[in-house]
Amino acid sequence: MSIAALLDRAEVPAAFDRAARHYDRLVGLNPGYHAHLRSAARAARVAGPGARVLDVGCGTGASTRALLSTLVDPEITAVDASAAMLEIARGKPWAASVRWEHAAVDTLSTAVVGGPFDVVFAAYLLRNVPDPDATLATLRTLLRPGGTLVLHDYTLAERLRPRVVWTAVCWSVIIPAAWATSGDTTLHRYLWRSAREFDSPSRLRRRLLDAGYTPVGVETVGGWQRGVLHTVTATVPRSPRRTS
Ligand SMILES: C[S@@+](CC[C@H](N)C(=O)[O-])C[C@H]1O[C@@H](n2cnc3c(N)ncnc32)[C@H](O)[C@@H]1O
Repeated sequence: MSIAALLDRAEVPAAFDRAARHYDRLVGLNPGYHAHLRSAARAARVAGPGARVLDVGCGTGASTRALLSTLVDPEITAVDASAAMLEIARGKPWAASVRWEHAAVDTLSTAVVGGPFDVVFAAYLLRNVPDPDATLATLRTLLRPGGTLVLHDYTLAERLRPRVVWTAVCWSVIIPAAWATSGDTTLHRYLWRSAREFDSPSRLRRRLLDAGYTPVGVETVGGWQRGVLHTVTATVPRSPRRTS
């Protein structure tokens, strides 16, 4: 069965609409979730104090909170295509330097969200979009020359262990927890399959280089998610790409 048979990528924001009220409780059951987001957000420190940051696929604001707690005086624009996820995010207390936008990533332009940005942060997003290459191209137009794209997601290394661990944890912990919390496992069975079918870290690195980002760095985390969860940091070159 392909991802499309479970959930078409264009339907992912609607699936998050349905899952939104359970989302914070479910990620709270993952002990490393917020710490890993903060560690990924540290990659954005390169932009310095007062950075203009786009948090795309911000969901209920977990990634936004990680950025706020890690960066010095950031100005954050947080965007999501799911109205219900965004409504939960907006209902939490925030600094005045955070603003919210309901939009799909591929519709973004500086006219919609402002910018250019020093940093684009996308946690658990790229695996879900209909056309990842188009998304990377869009995000590049939103970054200033020298700006940084930080991707944080389940991207399984091309080794047996991370793939076996991912399947074992999904079916023994994550999917049963989704059932116990919400009575619906569609989104989490999709999560399992989408990570298995999406890029390995090296394939993602290649995709970013082909999209004109350079250099591109890849880091994984410790514990059972080693080789499963990665933070990928990619820079928009200061000078335009040579075509000859
Ligand atoms: C797994 S959640 C991650 C939320 C948050 N970044 C975090 O770290 O907790 C993925 C989010 O991406 C959003 N999303 C999925 N496809 C999208 C798209 N095409 N454009 C914008 N947001 C999208 C979903 O609505 C969802 O809120």
